[in-house]
Amino acid sequence: PRVAVLISGRGSNLGALIAAARDPAYPAELALVLSNRADAAGLERAREAGIPTAVVESRPFGRDRAGFEAAMGERLAGAGIDLIALAGFLRVLTEGFVTAWSGQMLNIHPSLLPAFPGLDTHARAIAAGVRLHGCTVHFVTPGVDEGPIIAQAAVPVLPGDDEDALAARVLAQEHRLYPAALAWAASGLARLEGGRVAIGAPM
Ligand code: GRF
Repeated sequence: PRVAVLISGRGSNLGALIAAARDPAYPAELALVLSNRADAAGLERAREAGIPTAVVESRPFGRDRAGFEAAMGERLAGAGIDLIALAGFLRVLTEGFVTAWSGQMLNIHPSLLPAFPGLDTHARAIAAGVRLHGCTVHFVTPGVDEGPIIAQAAVPVLPGDDEDALAARVLAQEHRLYPAALAWAASGLARLEGGRVAIGAPM
């Protein structure tokens, strides 16, 4: 399948996906990197890797989320995209867009969902005193950070951790987890079936 990676910023997860997809045996092709911000650093990573990029600025659309998504949809259709990987994409998508891509859109979230949906996950994990934290790749459904879970990786929260130290430990796991989970989805090994994730070869 042809994958579009949607970003808003740094793009370190994009970098991990690019590195994994260099293997000819990787089951997905990164066919487009789309950003809602022209200044996203991740765009440069894509250009260096020779992956087509698109910028659809969300700001001019203001509250017109459907208009923004229609503009994105045109670029995705133009690139023949089958699968979307959200990677630090900081716009909430409408139910219409999410439903249109049901089972074909993944997100990575920096916590062990269902704990700590939303923002500031590392600070919240430290404040809550949890001993395990991590990251989750899930199919995207209309509820933010609520979609069925494909894969997770856990890390310890260590005494003396601050937000940055914990974030770095989680991020290293994100960079291992996302390429693996995307490969499962792209190869059909992980599928959304009846609102749950089925893992394994299709029957
Ligand atoms: C990551 O922590 C990811 O889990 C979250 O946003 C961050 C994006 O980082 N959704 P990067 O742009 O991939 O470096």
